[in-house]
Amino acid sequence: MKGVILAGGLGTRLYPLTYATNKHLLPVFDKPMVFYPLQTLVRAGITEILLVIGGPHAGHFLRVIRNGHHLGIKHLEYAYQENEGGIADALSLAQDFSAGQNMAVILGDNTTDADISQDVSSFTKGALIFLKRVPDPGRYGVPVFSPSDRKILRLEEKPRHPKSPYAVTGLYLYDHQVFDIIRRLKPSGRGELEITDVNNSYLKKGQLQWRLLRGFWTDAGKFETLFKANSYWAKKSRI
Ligand code: DAU
Repeated sequence: MKGVILAGGLGTRLYPLTYATNKHLLPVFDKPMVFYPLQTLVRAGITEILLVIGGPHAGHFLRVIRNGHHLGIKHLEYAYQENEGGIADALSLAQDFSAGQNMAVILGDNTTDADISQDVSSFTKGALIFLKRVPDPGRYGVPVFSPSDRKILRLEEKPRHPKSPYAVTGLYLYDHQVFDIIRRLKPSGRGELEITDVNNSYLKKGQLQWRLLRGFWTDAGKFETLFKANSYWAKKSRI
């Protein structure tokens, strides 16, 4: 399985912090934010990684990550996303890199201590998403479950009235079909190609599986969640 980290976008929710550098290079306790998703992949045995970057400070990534060998990465490639066309648009840049293989995809602002190696080794086809119970699901992709069983009926992106207390985390496993699905997407109301639409397409084909993510998880893309991530990782290091 290959790994893809999506670290494009401008990080406008964190202005003025992101005027001077890229969001994914801001500190989360003692490391740049993007080290956390990188380490999640490496911990799962994934060492061939594509990093999708973007924005005016994209060059800063090279200074920090270089060839990634010091982080346990064997082979690292970079792709540059022009504009902020959305998460699925950023993922479309991984087609050549994936060369038809399955991929573990993680958003560059997601931090977790979950171990996904079992799911990575048993994954064969379709898509797999990871859910986490959160106090504020309306800020995320949210699953709607059927009342009778734990079947997902659909996923809603940032619903005003969330129909479950779960967030779809920014950690996904996909097979090669994902690129055909992205090509057929239309931009959402906010002008982006949405990863939630990709996952809903897999759901319609009956090829979307889900798991609960065990352990700590938060994105770090807003002031509250950046603070939450910093506090958690500082405490975990017994500071
Ligand atoms: O963190 C999980 C959530 O991430 C999911 O629950 C949502 O379904 C999903 O849409 C996403 O929501 P956000 O609104 O938090 O996504 P955001 O625009 O903050 O982008 C998250 C990361 O994705 C960002 O750190 C880098 C990458 N990205 C985003 C955009 C818009 C790109 O690489 N390129 C982009 O154009």
